[in-house]
Amino acid sequence: MVDTPSIINAFLSVIKYKSQVKLSKVAPGERIITLEEVSWHDKHNDCWVVIYDRIYDITDFLNEHPGGSDILLEYAGRDASVAFRGSGHSAQAIKSLEEYLIGELPTAERIFRKQNGYRLSDIPN
Ligand code: HEM
Repeated sequence: MVDTPSIINAFLSVIKYKSQVKLSKVAPGERIITLEEVSWHDKHNDCWVVIYDRIYDITDFLNEHPGGSDILLEYAGRDASVAFRGSGHSAQAIKSLEEYLIGELPTAERIFRKQNGYRLSDIPN
C-alpha cells in the first residue's frame, strides 16, 4: 500500500523541479564574480545583487522597480534570490533580469546551479 505523504512528496518534486542543471561553458556576462566582490556594491549609487547565482547590477533599475527602491536596497551587495522568488515575480520580470546581468558566482559559491543538481522550474536558463 502506498502511504499518502510519499504520493504528495512525489507530486511536489514534479512541480518544483524541471530538469538537471547544465552549467554553461561560458558564464553569463562572461565574468566570474565572488560574493565578497558583490558585497562591496551595496549603495544606492552602486548596487549589485545575486539572484539564482547570477550577479545583477541594478543601480539604474532602483528607481524603476514597481516594488520600490527601498526593498531592493535591503539586498544591496547580498543574495536576493529567496526574496525575489517569494515576491512572486511574473515571467516578464524574470526575463527582464537579463538586462542587468553582469556575471555569475564561482561554482564553489553557487547554491541554485550546482553541477548535476536539480534546477528549479522557474529560474532563468
Ligand atoms: C533585482 C531584480 C528585480 C527585478 C528585475 C524586479 C522586477 C519587478 C517587476 C517587473 C515587478 C512588477 C510585477 C511583476 O511583473 O512581477 C516587480 C514587483 C515587485 N517586486 Fe521586484 N524585481 C526585482 C527584485 C525584487 C526583490 C529583491 C524584491 C524583494 C522582496 C522585490 C519585490 C517586489 C514586490 C514586493 C513587488 C510588487 C509590487 C506591487 O505590486 O506593489 N523585487 N518587481
